[in-house]
Formats: sequence, structure tokens, C-alpha cells
Amino acid sequence: MRHFLEIDDLSGEELRRVLELAESQNPAQVLSGKGMALVFEKPSARTRNSMEMAVHQLGGHPVYIAGDEIGMGTRETIPDVARTLGCYHSAIGGRVFDHATIEGLAGTNAVPVVNLLSDTSHPMQALADALTITAEFGTVSGKVISYIGDANNVARSLAIVIAMLGGICRIAAPPGYGFSEVDRDRIMLSGGFEEFNRPEEAAEGADVIYTDVWTSMGQEAERVERRKAFEGFGLTSSMVDSMAPGGIVLHCLPAHRGEEVDAEVIDGPASRVWAQAENRMHAARGLLIWLLGEAD
Ligand code: CP
Ligand code: NVA
Repeated sequence: MRHFLEIDDLSGEELRRVLELAESQNPAQVLSGKGMALVFEKPSARTRNSMEMAVHQLGGHPVYIAGDEIGMGTRETIPDVARTLGCYHSAIGGRVFDHATIEGLAGTNAVPVVNLLSDTSHPMQALADALTITAEFGTVSGKVISYIGDANNVARSLAIVIAMLGGICRIAAPPGYGFSEVDRDRIMLSGGFEEFNRPEEAAEGADVIYTDVWTSMGQEAERVERRKAFEGFGLTSSMVDSMAPGGIVLHCLPAHRGEEVDAEVIDGPASRVWAQAENRMHAARGLLIWLLGEAD
């Protein structure tokens, strides 16, 4: 049984197929008469709505379950939750604090499991990012994508997908907030990336500049410390001006204007954040058609 816990759970060929299926005008009804359980331990706007609509568009019925209602690991064990949901549903999606929770759901092999964001990874976002870059430039291959900010779940999945598709991923993060050695090895396995100390250097000549919040869900206690550490790492108009001609700005959202991105940047002409948000739904369809209809 296949699961989708991180973007490189797909081979390069499978990734390309998922992106192709995301564009399908006549999507296979792989969930006809079936359900998908969507468990959220954290809030969501894009992920919940894009997944619910994708399940509907594939003929299925999505069931939203709040984390504290189902109590994974508290009310009952994680494997028992997976087995229970597998009695009614063809797939389980989970947004979790700890990546081990999503691994625990997948470990029972009750039904295919999809990671809807964990502390380490956000592969559904990475699929939408790849779709957005491809729609803009025709390809990811050879394009320079500069991620400026926290080397977090979004950055990790983004760096891997860019490397897998032959793009050049740059990252600029403050000291102590960059990728670990383990991350570096994993990204290098897929293709590689370049690290910069100064965000302005990372932005110069890039085709895409990308950022995410400085304080992720679950890190709220570090908010003040992080705001200080990330000073100077927000996306500015001068960074946009220094990009390659036709360069675009991406942000997975939610955004904090005046922190990781200036308002004139995210609301300006180079921003593609709303196409990126819409692509979450198309990416979700592509992934589910592959996972439930084609995966070995
Ligand atoms: N980008 C993203 O995952 O947004 P939500 O947290 O609103 O789902
Ligand atoms: N890094 C952010 C992404 C939100 C979509 C978080 O984990 O909160």
C-alpha cells in the first residue's frame, strides 16, 4: 500500500504523473460512493477546503474530524484510529503536530494516508507550488526558486520537489534556522540546492522568491524570539526588482504582511499567491487519482 507522507515518497516519474493528473479536465471518479477522513490537529483554510472540494470532485464524501474530537494517542491509540477510519473511508488525510503521528496512521496500512502538514513536511503544498511554477514558466527545470525565511515544513517539501523536477533551489535563513545536515543530504539526493547568508543575494536573478511565516503552528511560544531572529529576512520590493525579468512571488499562506512579506510585494503584480492557493485543489485531485487509482 502506498502513502503520501513526504514529496519524495513519489518517484520522479510518479510526481510528473500526479502533476499531469492535476490538470485532467475529466478526472477519474476514484472516490465514487466512498469517503475520505480528514483529521486536523491544527487550523486550516486552504488545506481543508481544497481537500474537501477535491474529494467531492472525485465523486466522494469528505468527513472533517477535529483532532481533539478523535484524540489520536489520547482517546485511543493512533493505530486504532487508523483501523477505525479505514472501516468507513478509502483514505485518511492528517494534519498533525508530530510527523510520527502521520507515520503511525500509515503504519497500520489500513488505507492510504496523506500528510496534510506535519512539523517536518507539507507535501500537498509542494505539489501546488510545482503546478504554479510550471503554469508560469512552462517548466520547473532550470528555474531558480529562492526560499527566504524559516527552513520549515513548507521549505523542506519545496526544496525536495524543486530538486526532483530539475530546478535550482536557493535558501536564505538566519543562523540556526536553516536546514539540518539530514535535510541537506535528503535534498541533495533529489538534486541539490544553494545556501545564502544574505536574503538579497538569494533573491538576485531568481525566477521565484518564496516565503512562509516565521512562526509556524505549534511554535507560538517562540514568536518574539523568532521575529527578532528573522529581522531583515522579509520579502521587499527591492528583492522583487532584483529578480530575473518575469520573476514571481509565492507564499503558501497564511501571510503576515509587514513580517515575512511586505504588503506591496504579496499584493503586487509579481504575486501569484491566489493561483497558488487555487492549485492546492487541483493538486489534491491529481494526488488522489494517482494514489487511489494508479499507485502500485
Ligand atoms: N497553505 C496552507 O496549508 O494553508 P492552511 O494552513 O490554511 O491549510
Ligand atoms: N509553516 C507553516 C505553514 C502553514 C501552512 C506552519 O506549519 O504553520
